Amino acid sequence: DTRDPTSLRTPIVAVLGHVDHGKTSLLDKIRGSAVIEGEAGAITQHIGATAVPLDIISTIAGDLVDPDDFDLPGLLFIDTPGHHSFTTLRSRGGALADIAILVVDVNDGFQPQTLEALDILKRSETPFIVAANKIDTVPGWTEHEDAPINDTYESQTDRVRERLDESLYEIIGNLSDEGFSADLYWRVQNFQRNVGVVPVSAMTGEGVPDLLTVMMGLSQRYMKEEMEIDVAGPGVGTVLEVKEEKGFGTTIDTVLYDGTIRADDTLVVGGQNEPIVTEVRALLQPRPLAEIRTESRFETVEEVSAASGIKVAAPDLADAMAGAPVRVVRDRDLDDVIAEVQAE
Ligand code: GTP
Ligand code: MG
Repeated sequence: DTRDPTSLRTPIVAVLGHVDHGKTSLLDKIRGSAVIEGEAGAITQHIGATAVPLDIISTIAGDLVDPDDFDLPGLLFIDTPGHHSFTTLRSRGGALADIAILVVDVNDGFQPQTLEALDILKRSETPFIVAANKIDTVPGWTEHEDAPINDTYESQTDRVRERLDESLYEIIGNLSDEGFSADLYWRVQNFQRNVGVVPVSAMTGEGVPDLLTVMMGLSQRYMKEEMEIDVAGPGVGTVLEVKEEKGFGTTIDTVLYDGTIRADDTLVVGGQNEPIVTEVRALLQPRPLAEIRTESRFETVEEVSAASGIKVAAPDLADAMAGAPVRVVRDRDLDDVIAEVQAE
């Protein structure tokens, strides 16, 4: 195997869905499992994102994932808010994503922001799977902590299985009404043509091994070419949010999807009127969970590589816009980079 893994970046996975359907809980569960495995340090918290490396994914997925089958470094999950007022943020997250998880509560079914998320995925042509969440709330459910779906499903009573099946087929029907051909994930052959539905519980971890396996397989199979990047090249990213940060002024929360940003780089950022040319003042990462009580919530870093979420402090960012492009100039001609940003 002569492939250089450092040239393959982490796929960006957006987690979308209606309010309270369990997006954050699902990510918490994945983080929590890593903590239990004694691997808390391996999962890194980014600005607006969580990076889960391949070895952790394979630990959680158990027999379902053989790390030798993969050469992508892991998955970078972007959590998005489900509340109806956050349309812009959801659509930024959705458009940025290489792949997505649409979380649907099995009891609550399709809701307005489920449909909105589907619309974003349709427009951005982002491949996705559906996590049919909260299966533990099916009346009569017997929990099997962190078990693959097949194991826990087989050990439920007929009545419980029927109840779950009913909810799953309703979700499959709703997807079909929206023009997506969907089925339970183990029946899907081509995940680009059909949407796989994965029953999960963010509370008990049931089905989470399957979810990670499918996401990893989907990215490896269909995204690999898009993940081939010049890791050392000038950074390219998108502004997720523009925020005031005490002591740093206006900052941009940025998802970097190509190359690197360094603490001494010049950037061109899309602005409300014209592109902003500015010098990085600081690259800020959230402190690890263990250090959350220290005075500063951030630590400064010298360099970050794609894919990652990073807060960039720099002068003159007041006119920066969520969704705008961010490009590192490095040794290129400034006017060319400005033209690129204008063209986006
Ligand atoms: P927003 O960020 O507000 O859009 O919500 P969210 O989708 O991130 O939902 P969140 O993870 O905050 O979960 C909402 C509620 O559902 C919380 O009370 C969770 O504990 C609960 N919940 C999430 N997943 C599960 C699950 O699998 N089973 C059960 N029983 N409860 C769950
Ligand atoms: Mg949430």
